[in-house]
Formats: sequence, C-alpha cells, structure tokens
Amino acid sequence: MKRDNFGSSFGVLAAAAGSAIGLGNIWKFPYITGKNGGAAFILVYLACIACVGIPVMLAEFALGRKAQKNTVGAFKELAPGKPWYLSGGLSVLTAFIILSFYAIIAGWVFAYMFRAGSGELMSVSAGNLESYFGGVISNSKEPMLWTLLIISLTASIVLFGVKKGIEKCSKILMPILFVILVALMIRSVTLDGASKGLEFLFKPDFSKLTKEGVLEALGHSFYSLSLGMGIIMTYGSYVDKKENMMSLSLKVIIADTLIALMAGVVIFPAVFAYGFKPGQGPGLIFVTLPAVFKAMPYGGVFATLFFLLIAIAAITSTISLMEVVVACVSEQFNMNRKKAVALITVGLFLLSIPSNLSFGPWANVKIFGKNFFDFFDFITSNIFLPVGGILVCVFASFVFGVKNTITEITSDGIYKFKLKNLFVIGIKFVAPILIGIILLHSIGVFNLIGSDKINAKTLSVYGGFLLLPCILIYRYMVKRAEYAKKS
Ligand code: PFF
Repeated sequence: MKRDNFGSSFGVLAAAAGSAIGLGNIWKFPYITGKNGGAAFILVYLACIACVGIPVMLAEFALGRKAQKNTVGAFKELAPGKPWYLSGGLSVLTAFIILSFYAIIAGWVFAYMFRAGSGELMSVSAGNLESYFGGVISNSKEPMLWTLLIISLTASIVLFGVKKGIEKCSKILMPILFVILVALMIRSVTLDGASKGLEFLFKPDFSKLTKEGVLEALGHSFYSLSLGMGIIMTYGSYVDKKENMMSLSLKVIIADTLIALMAGVVIFPAVFAYGFKPGQGPGLIFVTLPAVFKAMPYGGVFATLFFLLIAIAAITSTISLMEVVVACVSEQFNMNRKKAVALITVGLFLLSIPSNLSFGPWANVKIFGKNFFDFFDFITSNIFLPVGGILVCVFASFVFGVKNTITEITSDGIYKFKLKNLFVIGIKFVAPILIGIILLHSIGVFNLIGSDKINAKTLSVYGGFLLLPCILIYRYMVKRAEYAKKS
C-alpha cells in the first residue's frame, strides 16, 4: 500500500511546528520562566535548544525519512534483526501515555475558553478564581467529557491521513494561531506599566538563576521540541527526499522558540501592569491570567481569544502524538487506518479516566507516592522521554552511523552541510550527555548526593535504573568492536 506523504514544504513545516508549539510553549514555558527569574533562564534555554534541540531534531527527521516507516518499523528497517525496534515501541508507548493526560489539560483549556466566551469566567471574583479552578478540574464528570471531546476531535483529524487531515488542518490553524498571538501581544505591550514585564522577560539577572532552573531549561527544551518520542521521526517518514532537512529543522526550532517568547510577551507585561506576581507556577494561566483579564477593558474578549490560542496550540500537538501511535498500529498490524484510530481513541479515553479522577475522588490513590496524573507525567516526561532521546543519539551515531545520518540529512549530498562537524560532536557527545543529566536529575540522583536519603532500598532502585542502560550500551559497544575486528 502506498504511504501518505506531506504535499508541500509549508505543509511539513506547519505540521512539525504545530506539533512542537503546544501547551509546553504557552502554558509551561511562561510559568517556568516566571518561577526561574525571567531573562537569565531564557538565555540558558536558548543555549539548550542549540546544544540538544538542533542535533536531535536533525537525527530524528533523518532516521524517519530514511526508513519511510513508523517508529517501530523504522528501527526494524535500519537495524534488522536487532532489538532496536523496542526503542520505537518505547516512543509509541510514551506518545500514548502523554496523550492520555495532555488531553486532560487541553480539556481544561476548552472549558475555560467556553466559560470566558459565555461571560461566566469574568463574573467570578478575583479572590475566588483559585477555588473556581479547583472546582472545574475536580468535578468528576465535566473534565472527562472535555477529554473525550479533545480525543475525538484529534481522532477525526488523524483519520483523514497525513495530507488531507494533519497537513490541511495545520496549514489553516497555525497562521490563525500566529495572528491571535500578535493581536494579544499588541494589547499586552500597550497597557500602562507593561514595561516592567518586558524588563522581567528580557533583562537578565543571573543571580536569580539556580541549578534547578538550568536543569528545568534543559528538560523543557527537549519537551518543547517534541523530541525523544518518535513524533519528529514519524513526521520525517512522510517528508519528500528533496526537502532540505537542515532548513526545515531550523525553521521548526525558530518557530517554536519564537512562539514561546511571544507567549511570554503576551503574559508578563499584562501580569505586571495589573500588579500580579509572575511566579505563580502551573496556575499562571488558569488563575492569575483570568484575574488580569477581569481588570482589563473588554477582558472577556481577550480571555476567549487567549484560550482559543492555547486550544489551537494543543490540538496541533495532540494530532502529532496520536499519529505516532496510529502509524505504528496500522502499519505493524496491517490494520486499516479507521480501525486503528477507533481502537486507539477508546484506549486513550480509558487510560485518561484514572488521571482525570486524580483531581477529584481519587486524589489519594497513589502509585509510588504520586496520584495517577503525576505518575504518568513523571514516568513519561522525566524517564521515557530522556531515555528515548539518548537512544536516538546512540542509534544515529553508532548503529545507523553518523556518516549515513549525515548523508540522509543532506539528501544524498544535494545540500551542503556547513556545520557537519558540530553536528557530529553534538549527536555523539553533547546531546546524549546533557540528556543523561536530565535523566539523572529527574530520577533524583542529584538529590541523593549529599542527602541523608541514601539507604539500601533507594540505592538499589536508582542503581537498577542507571545500571541497566549502562550495561546494554557497554554490551553493544563490545559487540560492535568484535564485529569490526572480524570484518
Ligand atoms: N511539544 C509540544 C508541547 O510543547 O506542548 C507537544 C508535546 C511534545 C507535549 C512532547 C509533550 C511531550 F512530551
């Protein structure tokens, strides 16, 4: 069966940028920037994008395009007879789990968009907005219906395939997102007192930067670019051989970073202009911002537009997450797309139920001390994503081989790759080491050092996590060396 492909360069760019630009940019980036002191954090974030984002994105696009298959099929094709396909399986699992709770937050955004549009949100007094938000998310029925709506909406787009579904929709939605963002930016920077917010965003104060902040920037650069989970690899498999991968990757990275900064320019000048605090954490857009909009003339209109903006960003990301799973199930099991989408939609909704309930009746049901939502978020964002990222670096560098990866990036030599040497250093050493640091940090190894928490149990758990990949990589290197000697 002929595989669907993207129809135009702009289509690929809109879809890949649509995937990268998501809740991470408009919800998470501003609040972690606020928490970590503003401009200094942004500079570190930009450095992380350059060191980790560029090489890993290039490698993922290249591996996908070379194989022209879903992630499991791609690893099977490029390393036949070896267990690397498990790495593809990990990315499918990661995308599936992330989508099950990402859709919940997207659901809250939709709920807020309609409440802002109907005027209900603007009628809540500023002091009650926090408990109002708590009420919206802890209600056990309504958030589930919103989650179902998000998953179904995503499914109905993915169902139409790559060109007629994902590409068409991204080509319409991404320009709309940009126009709304520009309109909101103009509103925000023209408010009296906006300059303090701009100063917070763009005037670096390195004394505010902590070790935690640097690690958060590193982790977020990875998350924001949709790396380590097969999205870029899957989209890469639908890209034409003639497409210039370097310019495509750079454009996606620039768009993702620009939109995150623009979201900051929408949020912080308005927050400062009305005397609110920037470091509110995850509640920044659901609690602080509605209070800001309430204080603003025509605030209801701007609030509705703002939540519409996030809703668009979220949907173009959920379709990319779903495509990773749909491509794998339909191709590996030879199932038609309709059946695969239906099956995955049902599975996703079922998996989202415990996460949804963890904001209400199941708040006290814990796995390893975390409720379902936090547990799923933790294992995917903090463990599976960095592991997936390291595996991509190792695979592109040593298994498929860095030379072959470069040949694919340059479309068999059609395009010049001026920064080839930097790419080699980045993909072989810098990116895997930095991602390794994210992994060690997120599983708490750095907290153990010098703390009194070290005991036999924690050591064996953390040791197991660390040792296993080390043994696997070591075994692989030894085998490779033996093979090289023989031939
Ligand atoms: N990159 C998108 C975002 O920043 O929201 C989508 C996404 C990718 C979400 C990877 C989550 C994730 F782990």
